[in-house]
Amino acid sequence: MLSRLSLTAPLAQRLVRRSMSTVMSNTINITFVDLEGNRAQVKARVGQRLLDVAQRFKVDIEGPCEGGGSPTEVVRTKDWTETTYGEGPTCFVCHVKIPSRFNHLLDNQTLHEKLGLEDAWEDEAGNTSRLACQIFLEKKHDGLVCFVPDMPPIDVI
Ligand code: FES
Repeated sequence: MLSRLSLTAPLAQRLVRRSMSTVMSNTINITFVDLEGNRAQVKARVGQRLLDVAQRFKVDIEGPCEGGGSPTEVVRTKDWTETTYGEGPTCFVCHVKIPSRFNHLLDNQTLHEKLGLEDAWEDEAGNTSRLACQIFLEKKHDGLVCFVPDMPPIDVI
């Protein structure tokens, strides 16, 4: 019985090669940079949120609301933002800054995200500000650089 289930060496090698190429094709590099310029290049998987990758590698980004589940709105096109029925992000603590050269790789920012970042981070928020919990990684994000701003005192937001 066992011999019927065992794999021949060439078949086993092909299966290992195929699974390795699948893993490699779904793995991307992300570089986190802190305020002091320290850089950490980490491996991420397609489908993960940027927040989850940061926390897995102990990058100093908090995310108390975990993104709030479903979004409050989804930007479908330049002219159409669909209102949805999720709570959406609420804490706005997972602030990151993505250099503008990567703008074309990111989904458009919702008004909820933009206003929330401005409320919570005031002058710290800018054109490159995003919520790490709202960035779902795709293959096109390979090489993304993410600056991590200093955390404001969490009891005042
Ligand atoms: S984790 Fe709360 S807004 Fe991102």
